[in-house]
Amino acid sequence: MSARVRRATKPQALRVAGWAALAGIGAAAFAAPAGGPAPRADSVGASALPAPPKVAALLRRACYDCHSNETRWPWYSRIAPLSWRIARDVERGRQELNFSAWGDYYAATRRRKLKWIGRAVENGTMPPFLYCVTHPGARLTREQRAAIVEWVERALARQRP
Ligand code: HEC
Repeated sequence: MSARVRRATKPQALRVAGWAALAGIGAAAFAAPAGGPAPRADSVGASALPAPPKVAALLRRACYDCHSNETRWPWYSRIAPLSWRIARDVERGRQELNFSAWGDYYAATRRRKLKWIGRAVENGTMPPFLYCVTHPGARLTREQRAAIVEWVERALARQRP
């Protein structure tokens, strides 16, 4: 009898320990900061982006989560370890290119970044593959990519992007 009881309680104890551990992880995850650098207040530059509305809308949809101060943080960006990965992507993304700060860049910097944008969109390296898996709405069709690349070329030709 006692042996039977012991056999029954061991898995039970394990299960309790398991739930306790899960609850601990969950609590830690939700205690984690929302993640990501605090958005800077100065998004005046956003309006300076000289893109036609159609292109501006594409960039907003496909790029702004990582390349602007207008990141729409998903609910899972609060859960470690995902939060760390997402925060790092946004931080590095903003460092490389921040549409909210477009008007603050020197003209030469804008030209350089425009060239990068054209290349990244043409090659399909941006938006990143994993991001497109979780954000199907951010995927760009071939025509949409072409529209962005065409805008880049026109802006570069205008001398003052
Ligand atoms: C999920 C976040 C994310 C999204 C969405 C995203 N990027 Fe990026 N992007 C990054 C990160 C992180 C880097 C820096 C590290 C790297 O190059 O992978 C980067 C780098 C860049 C660079 C500079 C380096 C290079 O490859 O030339 C450009 C230009 C760029 N992105 C353009 C875009 C454009 C345009 C879009 C939208 C069509 C976009 N990105 C969407 C995260 C993102």
